[in-house]
Amino acid sequence: MKAEHQTTHSRGKFSSSFGFILAATGAAVGLGNLWKFPYVAGQNGGAIFVITYLFFIVTLGVPIMLGEMSLGRKTRLNPIGAYRTLDKRFTFVGVIGVLCAFVILSYYSVIGGWVLKYVFTYLTGNHITDATAFFNSFISSSVQPILWHIAFMTIACFIVMAGVTKGIERASKIMLPMLFVFIIVILIRSVTLDGAIEGIRYFIVPNLSTINSFSEFSSMLLAAMGQVFFSLSLGMGAVITYGSYLSKKNNLQKSALIIPLLDSCVAILCGFAILPAVFALGFEPSAGPGLLFETLPRVFEEMPFGIFFAIIFFVLVLFAAITSAVSLLEVVTSFCIDDLRMKRKKACVIVASIMASLGIFVAMSFGVLSDIEIFGMTMFGLLEFLSDKVLMPLGGLFLCIFVGHIWGIDNAAQEITNQGKLKFKLRRVFSIAMKYYAPVIIGIIFIASFF
Ligand code: TRP
Repeated sequence: MKAEHQTTHSRGKFSSSFGFILAATGAAVGLGNLWKFPYVAGQNGGAIFVITYLFFIVTLGVPIMLGEMSLGRKTRLNPIGAYRTLDKRFTFVGVIGVLCAFVILSYYSVIGGWVLKYVFTYLTGNHITDATAFFNSFISSSVQPILWHIAFMTIACFIVMAGVTKGIERASKIMLPMLFVFIIVILIRSVTLDGAIEGIRYFIVPNLSTINSFSEFSSMLLAAMGQVFFSLSLGMGAVITYGSYLSKKNNLQKSALIIPLLDSCVAILCGFAILPAVFALGFEPSAGPGLLFETLPRVFEEMPFGIFFAIIFFVLVLFAAITSAVSLLEVVTSFCIDDLRMKRKKACVIVASIMASLGIFVAMSFGVLSDIEIFGMTMFGLLEFLSDKVLMPLGGLFLCIFVGHIWGIDNAAQEITNQGKLKFKLRRVFSIAMKYYAPVIIGIIFIASFF
């Protein structure tokens, strides 16, 4: 309780509910939607994955998001502090979260670096004509990906150093609506390419023959669940941290519905912008992390004023990536400020440096170190697996158990209804989801994926 008192005054705050929704949506909408969703959908059977993903957004994403927000706003602390204040035995869940932020941001920043490289290439007036060759030679070179990765991390670091609320709130307000419009423009170009219909079909018509065995089915389930956690930034305390900057008047229920809604809209729109182009241009949907970087430049080549659209698009992707990266950096930074009593600037520089160092290996794992495998995965594959498929689901599982059974639905409901001032119509549903449904589903999928 002591920590709660000491930190309440000095902590940042969002200026309004609207600002919070934008910042939280800015944290949610990022490379997960633009880069990851299309290729993970492509690797996991297309429409079947999309439907499963949407199902989990509603039944796992929304309740867990509400749970995290209420925990954050109640305690006004970083994830470790939040759990520790309410029940010491659960401190480790916050620790998992903070570790997870390290894992994610180290590879997130590498991909952010790729985006930065594309922005720079287009801005300096270069066309990317053979995108596959361009992409492959870039990621396999030894120095470039590392430098761009460090540049990306440096940008994120500067924003967090300046204090989140102003910078991010403001940036999100302008960028997000623009991104929406741009994706739609690109989507229209993509779906009107010759042969795009195959891609549209792949994306919306379930084809059972893409899933041939129980193990493929369970790995699809795990991928869909992992993508829900990743895309909504759940399971590692980012939403707890953002919730801790939230005013006591905010309507949490509304926020927990709007953010997932906007986030999944962006993901679906991106799927429509990318997968039809993949088919029209003769790529494999299961091509993996390069999908966005290899297909879209080709789409831009086929558009009038393509280079102009390319610049704006990759700049927007860059901003989406930065607002998300910042949220990850903020989780760990806020822990260092609250608990280790560091100054914001110092905390931020130290954290970013450690993450960047880890990321150097990830950057090299696409090139120089691509032959080195740990448990059959490259460094990138391993960290992605660890965060999406292990740490975040575990964090989500423990959050549900904590809110459902330890802190209790009554306490959560007090916070969610602003001490009884708001109605909580879905309280029963929330209670069942937290106590039984979510823990059981996460547990089953988790265990099934080992077979
Ligand atoms: N949700 C972001 C995206 O879709 C990534 C992200 C930001 C994130 N903060 C997070 C993922 C916290 C997990 C946890 O790109």
